[in-house]
Amino acid sequence: MKNIIVFGLGYVGLSNAILLAQKNNVIGIEINSDKVELLNKKISPIKDDKITEFLKNKKLNFCIKVLESKEDIKNADYIIIATPTNFDENKNYFDTSSVDNIIEKLFNLKAKANIIIKSTIPLGYIKKLRKRFPGITILFSPEFLREGRALEDNLYPSRIIVGYDINNKDEYIKASEFANLLRQGALKQDISILIMNIEEAESVKLFSNTYLAMRVAYFNEVDDYAIKHNLNTKDIIKGMCADPRIGDFYNNPSFGYGGYCFPKDTKQLKANYSGVPNSLIDSIVESNMIRKEFIAKTILEKTVSSDIVGIYRLLMKSNSDNCRSSAIYDIIKILAKERKIIIFEPNILEISIENCEFETNLEKFKKRSDIILVNRCDEKLSDVQEKVFTRDIFGRD
Ligand SMILES: NC(=O)c1ccc[n+]([C@@H]2O[C@H](COP(=O)([O-])OP(=O)(O)OC[C@H]3O[C@@H](n4cnc5c(N)ncnc54)[C@H](O)[C@@H]3O)[C@@H](O)[C@H]2O)c1
Repeated sequence: MKNIIVFGLGYVGLSNAILLAQKNNVIGIEINSDKVELLNKKISPIKDDKITEFLKNKKLNFCIKVLESKEDIKNADYIIIATPTNFDENKNYFDTSSVDNIIEKLFNLKAKANIIIKSTIPLGYIKKLRKRFPGITILFSPEFLREGRALEDNLYPSRIIVGYDINNKDEYIKASEFANLLRQGALKQDISILIMNIEEAESVKLFSNTYLAMRVAYFNEVDDYAIKHNLNTKDIIKGMCADPRIGDFYNNPSFGYGGYCFPKDTKQLKANYSGVPNSLIDSIVESNMIRKEFIAKTILEKTVSSDIVGIYRLLMKSNSDNCRSSAIYDIIKILAKERKIIIFEPNILEISIENCEFETNLEKFKKRSDIILVNRCDEKLSDVQEKVFTRDIFGRD
C-alpha cells in the first residue's frame, strides 16, 4: 500500500485518485474549496457516473484537502500532478505554470517521492524541468480518458504509458512500479503497458490527440463538400468506413472539434513543429476554423437578417457537463454580427456571451427561434425538427 498525493482533482486527477484509492492511501489536493467541500460529502463535482458510484459505494482510502502539509510530502511515495495546462495564445505555447509551481515547491521541500506528471505538456518539457530541478525524479504518464467517462476509461484503459529517462535503470523500475499501481486499480484484464523514454511518451499524447482531431476535421471536410454539392453525407461516410482500414467509428460530422483538449493540444503540437518540415500538422488547426466559418456562412445563407438564430446547448458532447472551447463559440461570434442569437443552456448559469441572450425556458426558446443549431441531436427538439440545423448524421458523439 503506497502513499500517493494527487494535485488537482479535475477529470484527470479525480479519476486517477479514486482508481488508486481502492488499494493505496491517497491524499487529493485541490485549490477549489467548493470542490473539496463536495468531495468531502462524497459528491462528485463533475458529471461522471462511475465517479459518483465509486464515491458513494466503494471503500476508498481517500482524503481531500485544499493544502498539503510538509508531513504529507515527506511521507509520499508518489506525487501525481494533474493541474491545467491551458494554451496561452500570446505565447503560442501551453501555460505550464501550475505544474512548474508545484514542482518548484516539491524541489524546495526536497521531496523524495517519484513525481508523475499526468497533465498534458509541450514536447521536451520534462527535459527542461529536470535541468531546472536536478535530483528529483519526474516521470510522465499521458492520460487518454474521455470527459464524462473519466473513471470508466481508467478502469478499462486502452493502454498505460509511463515515460522515464532511458539512461537511468532505477527510473525504469520506478516507472514500471507506477504502471503496476494503475493496473492494480483497473478492472480490464491484459492491459497493454508501455514503458518508454520520456520524450517519446510526451509525443504519444500530443500525436494521439492531433490524430483524433485530424480525423474529426477530415470527416467534417467530407461533409463540407457534400453540403456544397448537395450530396448525401451519410452514404459517403458509410461507404468509406466499410473499409476496415478506415473503420466505422469516430466519423460523425460536427460543427468542428472542440472541448478542453483537442483545440489546445493541436496548437501546441503545431508550435512544437516550428522548424520541422510539415504541412499536415499545421493545417489541422486551420481546417477546424474553416469548418466553423463554413457552418456560420451556411446559416447566414439559410436565414434573413430579421431571423432569430437559436443555439441549443453550448456543450460539445451530449453526455457532458462542460463547454470548454466548444466549436459553437466561434460560430456564434460570426453569426452574432449579423443575426439575433438566443441560447438555451440550462446547465451553465454563470456565463455571458457578447451580443447574445440566454433563454432559460425551452418552450419559449423553440417558439422564438427561426432556426435552431444543435451540435448533437436531442429528442427534446423532436417537435421542432423543421427548425433544426445539425450535422449530427449518425446520432452519436
Ligand atoms: N479533460 C480531459 O479529457 C483530459 C484528458 C487527458 C489529459 N488532460 C490534461 O490533464 C490536465 C488536467 O485536465 P482536467 O480536464 O483534469 O482539468 P480540470 O480543469 O478539470 O481540473 C484541474 C483541477 O486542478 C485544480 N488546480 C489548479 N491548480 C492547482 C494547484 N496548484 N493545486 C491543486 N489543484 C489545482 C483546479 O482547481 C481543477 O479542479 C490538463 O493538462 C489536460 O490537458 C485532460
